[in-house]
Amino acid sequence: MCGIVGYTGSAAASPILIEGLRRLEYRGYDSAGVAVQRDGALHLVHRTGKVDGLAQAVEQEQVAGTCGIGHTRWATHGRPSTANAHPHTSCDGRIAVVHNGIIENFVELREELEAAGHTFTSQTDTEVAAHLVEEAYAEQPDLVAAVRAATQRMAGAYGLAVVCADEPGTIVVTRKDSPIVIGMAPDGARVASDVIALIDATRDVTVMGDGELAALSPDGIVYYDAAGRVTEPKITHIDWDVDVAEKGGYPDFMLKEIHEQPRVIRDTLAGRLVNGTLAIDELDLSVEELNLIDRVYVIACGTSYHAGLIAKNLIEGWARIPTEVEVASEFRYRNPIITPTTLVVAVSQSGETADTLAAIRDARCKGAKVFGITNVIGSPVARESDGVIYTKANKEIAVASTKSFLGQVVSLTLLALLLAQVKGKMRTNQIRLLFRELADTAEHVEAILSDTSAVEEAALACKDAVSALFIGRGMGAAISYEGALKLKEISYLHAEAYAAGEMKHGPIALLDDGFPVIAIATQSPVYDKVISNLQESKARGAMIVAVATEGDEEIRKHADHVIYVPKVRDCFSAITASVPLQLLARSIAVLRGCNVDQPRNLAKSVTVE
Ligand code: M6R
Repeated sequence: MCGIVGYTGSAAASPILIEGLRRLEYRGYDSAGVAVQRDGALHLVHRTGKVDGLAQAVEQEQVAGTCGIGHTRWATHGRPSTANAHPHTSCDGRIAVVHNGIIENFVELREELEAAGHTFTSQTDTEVAAHLVEEAYAEQPDLVAAVRAATQRMAGAYGLAVVCADEPGTIVVTRKDSPIVIGMAPDGARVASDVIALIDATRDVTVMGDGELAALSPDGIVYYDAAGRVTEPKITHIDWDVDVAEKGGYPDFMLKEIHEQPRVIRDTLAGRLVNGTLAIDELDLSVEELNLIDRVYVIACGTSYHAGLIAKNLIEGWARIPTEVEVASEFRYRNPIITPTTLVVAVSQSGETADTLAAIRDARCKGAKVFGITNVIGSPVARESDGVIYTKANKEIAVASTKSFLGQVVSLTLLALLLAQVKGKMRTNQIRLLFRELADTAEHVEAILSDTSAVEEAALACKDAVSALFIGRGMGAAISYEGALKLKEISYLHAEAYAAGEMKHGPIALLDDGFPVIAIATQSPVYDKVISNLQESKARGAMIVAVATEGDEEIRKHADHVIYVPKVRDCFSAITASVPLQLLARSIAVLRGCNVDQPRNLAKSVTVE
C-alpha cells in the first residue's frame, strides 16, 4: 500500500526521492507527492496517478534542496486526489508529514484541532498528524519532541516522516505497526517504508521498532527508544542483489519472479538436512514442546492462505495433527479453541498484512505458540512471532505472488516433515527420501519453464472468456484456488475454484459451450474421480484445460488442451502444478492488455484492515 521515502544529505533530494518512490510503485498507489526544504521554506508537489507524472512536475517546478520526504498513497480516507495526496502540512505550511497506516482516532482529533482554530485541506486521517506536530512545536520548538508529543495523541498504526522549515536538514521519523527502515549512505541519510527504496545507497539498515524515533541529518542519525533515551541502532545487512528491482531482460517482474522459483526452492532448502535430520532451529521450540502440539492453525490471507491449504494436507497426512487453515480476517474476530499446545503458523510474504498481524497478537494473548513464515527480514510478522522461517524468495515486486508462494509451500513442507519427525510418524530414511524428492522439484520447475508452448496455446483459447472455473481434488483443489486467484487478480477475468466433487452441487450450472474449465489432473489417488468430473464438464460443452502428469496419454481424450508437468509424488504436486497456472494467468493477462505487475485496485502489502 502506501510508501514513504526521505533523504537528507549533500546531494539534490528530488531525484533520490523520485527514484525511491519508483521503487515503491510495486506496492500499489494512486497518488504521490514530495516536500523538499529550500531557503527556509517547504516546496510541495502532489500529483494523482503514476510517479512519472510527479517526476515531470518536480522537474518543471525545479524543486531544489537537499532534504525532503516523499510518499505514494493508496487511498483509504478520502478519494485519490491532489488534495488528499501526501505530504500534508500544518496550517502555516512549515511542517510537512508523510504517513503510512491509519490514525484510528482522527475524527475526534480533527474536531478538537478545528475547534482550536486549525484549518484542514484534505479528507485524510494523516492531516491530523501535521496539525498535532504544529501544536506541539508551538509549545516547544523542537521537532523530535513535537513528533513524540503528537504520536502520543494518535491511536492506530503509523510510519511517519516529518520535516519542518525551521529545522533545515532534519527529518524525524517514528513508527507503530507500520515499517520504517533507515540507512546511512556516503552522501547522506535515508529513510523508507521498505528497504527496496534505499538498497542502492546502502545495504546496512536499521529496522525501527514500535515507538522508536530517529532524527536524520546529513551528518548522521540519532536513535531514540520508546522512552526517549538515545540508543544504539541494530544494523541489519541486506544481502539481496541490487538487480532485484530490475526486470533483468524479462518483460515484467512477474515473469522474472516465476523464473526465479527453482532458485527459491534450492535456497529455502539449503542447510535444512543435517546428518539426515531436519534442522529448523528458528522454530525456537524444544523437541518436547513440539511433541506436545495437538492442534495447528495456519492463518494467512490470499495466496498465503492457499499455501496453508496445501500445508493442511501435509501436516495431517504426515504428522497426523489436526490442522485448520483460516483467513486471518476471520480468525481474529472469532473465538478459536487455543490451548498452550496449539501451534499457530502465520504465513505472510510481506510480513506486514494487518489481519495476519492482528491474528498473531490474538493467538499469543490466548497462549498459543506462533510460528511465522515470511519473506521479509525484520518484518512485523517475524518480530512478533515466537519463531520464524524466512522463505528466501528475496524481494517480490509483482503484486501477484508467485515465487514467494513457492517459498511458502516449501517452508510449510519442511515444517510438516519436522512435525512428522518429532511425532515419530516417519522414519529417518523416509524423511531423507522425501527431502531429496522435494529438492528435485527445483529441476522439475526448470523443465516446466523451459517449454511454455502448451501454456501459450491454452492462454489463447481462454483469453476472450468472461469466466473460468478451476477444479481439482485433494492437493489439486488447493492448487485450483491459487490458480483462480492468480487469473482474476491480474487478468480481471472472473474465475473461481471448486473442489471438483462439488461440481454437481452448483457450479456445473455455469457450464456452456466453450466455458473454460481448468482442471488439476495430475497423478494422484483421486485421478479417476477428476477424470469423471472432466467427462461431466465436457458433456456440457466446456473447454477443458488439464494440467496433467507427463506420460499420461489418456488425458488427451478428455481435455482440449493439456499442459504436462513432470511426475512427482502427489504431496509435491502443488509445487509443479502451480507453475503452469501462474504462467497461464500471466499470458492471459498479457493477451488482454493488462498491467501484469500492478493490477488495478490491489496493493502488494495490505497494511490496513
Ligand atoms: O503479504 P501477505 O502474504 O500477507 O499477503 C497476503 C495477500 O494479500 C497476498 O497473498 C495476495 O493475495 C497476493 N496479491 C496474491 O497474488
